Amino acid sequence: MTYLWTKTFHALFVIAWMACVFYLPRILVNLAETQGRPAVQERVALMGRRLYRFGHVMFALMLGLGLLLWFGRVVAPELWPHVTAGRGWMHAKFLLVLVLLGYFLWTGRMLKAIAAGATPKSSTWYRWFNEIPLLLAIPILFLVIAKPF
Ligand code: HEM
Repeated sequence: MTYLWTKTFHALFVIAWMACVFYLPRILVNLAETQGRPAVQERVALMGRRLYRFGHVMFALMLGLGLLLWFGRVVAPELWPHVTAGRGWMHAKFLLVLVLLGYFLWTGRMLKAIAAGATPKSSTWYRWFNEIPLLLAIPILFLVIAKPF
């Protein structure tokens, strides 16, 4: 039961973090489209900063529970059985999650640069940029659900 509850909360924080990963680039789209309207820009940038901070907390909770699912057997094998034993999917998943984390941090850097006065790229550029997490989320989900290797 402990294992299943850990996985439930892991999935919950995954949802919360992914919401940030998908929404932060939309904030960049809004910043690009509201050039010359400082009051709106300030508000949108504030929303971006708060969402980015929230994303860090969600990532930490997701990672903590993910590591417990992965290595919890070291402290209590009866609570967290070794489901990843001899399986490569977890390593592949973790690698893709690191790439996704890099994307998240890159988005945050772009937000900070614009808040500091840099000119945003075009909204079309950010819309395409917004598709990257989808391309990473699909294989990550397939790996955990199918555990193909
Ligand atoms: C932060 C790094 C992460 C680690 C260390 C991690 C680790 C794990 C582990 C060990 C499991 C248990 C697998 C099982 O019991 O079958 C799991 C389940 C799961 N993870 Fe993660 N995870 C991480 C991030 C993510 C991300 C970013 C996503 C989605 C985009 C995700 C989606 C899932 C899902 C959907 C499950 C449930 C799979 C199932 O029950 O079939 N995880 N995770």
